[in-house]
Amino acid sequence: NEQTLTDPFGRRIAYLRLSVTDRCDLRCGYCLPKGFKGFEEPEHWLSFEEIGRVVAAFTALGVRHVRITGGEPLVRRNLPDLAERLSALPGLDDLSISSNCTRMDALAEPLYRAGVRRLNVSLDSLRPEVFKEVTGGDLDKVLRGIAAAREVGFAPIRVNTVVMRGVNDEEIEDILGYCAEKGFTLRLIETMPIGATGRGAQDHYLDLQIVRRRLEQSFELISDILPGGGPARYYRVGATETRIGFITPISQHFCETCNRVRLTVDGTLYLCLGQDNSYALRPLLRDGIGEADLIAHLRSAIALKPERHEFKERPEKIIRFMSATGG
Ligand code: GTP
Ligand code: 5AD
Ligand code: SF4
Repeated sequence: NEQTLTDPFGRRIAYLRLSVTDRCDLRCGYCLPKGFKGFEEPEHWLSFEEIGRVVAAFTALGVRHVRITGGEPLVRRNLPDLAERLSALPGLDDLSISSNCTRMDALAEPLYRAGVRRLNVSLDSLRPEVFKEVTGGDLDKVLRGIAAAREVGFAPIRVNTVVMRGVNDEEIEDILGYCAEKGFTLRLIETMPIGATGRGAQDHYLDLQIVRRRLEQSFELISDILPGGGPARYYRVGATETRIGFITPISQHFCETCNRVRLTVDGTLYLCLGQDNSYALRPLLRDGIGEADLIAHLRSAIALKPERHEFKERPEKIIRFMSATGG
């Protein structure tokens, strides 16, 4: 008789987003503030052993998907060791990662060997100058990283493009062409007002319903379902094998079907991306809590999950940066 986790609104929680660092080697304007924090690993960060205990307790409660996020997860030292530890947990059947791929060239092989299979990569532009302006980084390096991941066998690979009016909205067809050629799924994302950076990006907000209607003038979009359990609404592009997804937290939110919670690197469980409700796990872990008690705490935490975000009603609400929870 398997245990399950259900929130106060009847939603089954089966997906944990695991942020393994709040640092990043890029500086996307909508995500991180300027300024380099360094890559030393403070004492308040959970160790791999501590993370493993939390994930084990979640899997005992029926969580089947874990997505490794950041910041940029690949800047966390020895990340493949963590992936290996998580892969070994019985009951976890989907280990995925969201990365900017700057460091994927070197890490694709060890991560794949450690059991990571699905990759979502942030790619906002295929124009080197625009990419540089949005992220501060080098497009070629990222494309090499993506190619390495594809070569090693990551599948599916999904490209995340945050659509910004006046920055990359004219490029969507080109990015779709690149994805079609490589066998990737493209997902377009609406900017969210998370942290001062996210709110700054709302100047470039573009309602993706408009983009979808624009694409429908060139392509037939046929509604489709893809595995993964994330918030994107997918379409098949005409008679091709290509899929495009729309992640529309603002224009058409998906909170009724939310299945996820988030763990930050300092051991705080956030119950919703767009709310502050949280539960501190680090003190429990450092007190040497046993698995049964930890499971009871996770149930108490899930009872705090709010119904939905308030990005429209209270866009100023979330102070923390996107990099704390990795989206
Ligand atoms: P799949 O398992 O492939 O479906 O992954 P995913 O789409 O859930 O994860 P990814 O890390 O690629 O996130 C893509 C975008 O969706 C990011 O901008 C996230 O911030 C956003 N996102 C993911 N989950 C949620 C959520 O629960 N609420 C909101 N508002 N946005 C989310
Ligand atoms: N709004 C929407 N998406 C965001 N991401 C980061 N910050 C924001 C924001 N303010 C995206 C990244 C990455 C994903 C995990 O989250 O581009 O693709
Ligand atoms: Fe879930 Fe909150 Fe995201 Fe809505 S905003 S889908 S409730 S995490």
